[in-house]
Amino acid sequence: MKINIAIDGPSAAGKSTIAKRLATLLGYVHLDTGAMYRCTALKCVRTGIALDDEDAVCEMLKETEIVLTPEGGVYLDGEDVSLAIRADEISMAASKVSALKRVRSDLVARQQEMAKAGGFIMDGRDIGTVVLKDAEVKIFMTASAEARAERRYRQNLEKGIETSDIETIAEEIRQRDYDDTHRANSPLRKADDAVEIDTSYMTIEEVVEKIHSLALPFLEKEETDA
Ligand code: DC
Repeated sequence: MKINIAIDGPSAAGKSTIAKRLATLLGYVHLDTGAMYRCTALKCVRTGIALDDEDAVCEMLKETEIVLTPEGGVYLDGEDVSLAIRADEISMAASKVSALKRVRSDLVARQQEMAKAGGFIMDGRDIGTVVLKDAEVKIFMTASAEARAERRYRQNLEKGIETSDIETIAEEIRQRDYDDTHRANSPLRKADDAVEIDTSYMTIEEVVEKIHSLALPFLEKEETDA
């Protein structure tokens, strides 16, 4: 049986980039749970549903299909929205819908179903504390707001996504950090058994290597058991 790896942390700390690299290295599947909250937010914005109307958002979710492909594609009701969900407006909207308790239960149930077979590297805010409490490896990844803003800015430029300047992004990141850590439902926090990694001054390779070394004892056991 393959293990699961949980990676939590604030926005733009590098979770997705690291999770993708690790998935390739291990032959595992990366599951970006933030993309599911972003899809929910995108559909609300498009259909005019208020981001704090829990009943309406939950009703909408019943009729909503979100598919994350192993290659990193994000499909909302069959449409490729991989780029659309990365817009700054949708980041803020996703933070709002993610505060709704029943929206979280719906998406958490979908994530748990997907990860049942093992072999997943799941990144988000509540993976180690709620979604995969039994994950063999739990990481809490952080970085300073400035380092994260700079990375997000460069990422936006590379992907050709319309972007604000670095200081505005840093301000939004601080606001989202506050919202994500202070919300009543599943606030962002480090699981007691998670290992914290501050990536501000680390390269991608160094972070991947660090997590790989933490996972190795479990991966070796996985091979012996197979
Ligand atoms: O990781 P991200 O920036 O793509 O996440 C978008 C929003 O969704 C962010 O404000 C936090 C929220 N989120 C969450 O509450 N729980 C998760 N497991 C993943 C994301």
